[in-house]
Amino acid sequence: MKIFITRLIPDKGINLLKEKGYEVVVSPHDRVLTKNELIDVLQKDRYDAVLCLLTDKIDAEVLSAAGPQCKIFANYAVGFDNIDLKAVAEKGVMASNTPGVLTDSVAEHTFALLLAIAHRVAEADRFTRAGKYMGWEPMLFLGESVSGKTLGIMGLGRIGSRVAYHAKRGFDMRVLYYDVKQNGEFEKEFQAEFRANPDDIFKEADFISIHVPLLDSTRHMVNKERIHMMKKTGFLVNTSRGPVIDELALVDALKNGVIAGAALDVFEHEPELASGLRELENVILTPHIASATEGARQAMSETAALNIIEALEGRTPPNLVKI
Ligand code: GLV
Ligand code: GLV
Repeated sequence: MKIFITRLIPDKGINLLKEKGYEVVVSPHDRVLTKNELIDVLQKDRYDAVLCLLTDKIDAEVLSAAGPQCKIFANYAVGFDNIDLKAVAEKGVMASNTPGVLTDSVAEHTFALLLAIAHRVAEADRFTRAGKYMGWEPMLFLGESVSGKTLGIMGLGRIGSRVAYHAKRGFDMRVLYYDVKQNGEFEKEFQAEFRANPDDIFKEADFISIHVPLLDSTRHMVNKERIHMMKKTGFLVNTSRGPVIDELALVDALKNGVIAGAALDVFEHEPELASGLRELENVILTPHIASATEGARQAMSETAALNIIEALEGRTPPNLVKI
C-alpha cells in the first residue's frame, strides 16, 4: 500500500503507517501544494490513501486524479469544509477527520483569546515593548472582567461544550447557547440556557464564541445585522472558520465602536486579512493555531493514520465523514 501525505506533519501517524509496512510519501515542499501540483502528484503515481490538510481543496478533479484504487482522503483536521463531500460520495471514496483529540487545545486557545481581549493583553504588550510604560497609572488599559458575565456559544459541539465547561467552572459565567439541537443534559450540568434564535445570543451575551462548522447555512452567520445587535461592550471570539463572520462588516463595527473588541484565530480569506483589520488595536489576531499544541497535533497525526489503516484493511474508519 502506498500513502501520500500532502505536507510534513508530526511523526506519530507517519510511523504508524510505516509500521504497517505501507510506503509513505511526504510532499517534499514545506508549503501548500497548488491544486495542479496535487493533481500531478496523484496522477503520476498510484496511491491507496491520501492524508490531506485543511489547506488542500479536495474536489471532484483531485478525487479523479487519485484514481479508483484510492480508498480514502484522511483530513488532518476536525473541520472538513475543504472537502467536497458530494464529490466524495459520487466517487465512492471515503473521507475522514480528527475530532476529539484537539478539543482541549482549541477550547484553551479560545479562552486564551477571550481573556486576552478582555484584559487587553496584546495591546498592553505592544505598549510596554514600545517603551511607553512610564509607571503605574489609575486609568491605564482598563479592560473588562470575564467572571460572572454572560457567554454566548454559537454551536454546541465538542469544542463549544468544552468552552462552556471552562466558562462555568473557571469563571462562573452564565452560559447561553445556540445550536441546531437543544441539549437538556448540558443545560442541567452548566445551568445553560438555549436560544432557538441566534439573534438572541447576539443581543444578550457579553462575550460570543463561535464553534459552528462552516456550511452553507453558517457562512456569514455573523453578519452586519447581528454584529449591530451586540452590546457596545460586547466581544466576539472566533476559533472555528473565518467565513462564518462577514469580516469586512466586523472591521467596520470595530472601527466605529459598535462592539468593544474581537479575537480571531481564523479569517475569511486566509491567509489574507480584511482591509483595516491589522491596524485595529481592539483585535487580537492569531494565525489559525488553536489546535497547535504538540499533544493535539501528534494525536491528529495518529488519528488520521488510524482512519487510513482501518479503510485499507476493509473496515469502517472511526471518523468517517458523511454528507
Ligand atoms: C482546524 O482548524 C481543524 O479543523 O482541525
Ligand atoms: C469539534 O470536534 C466539535 O464537535 O466542536
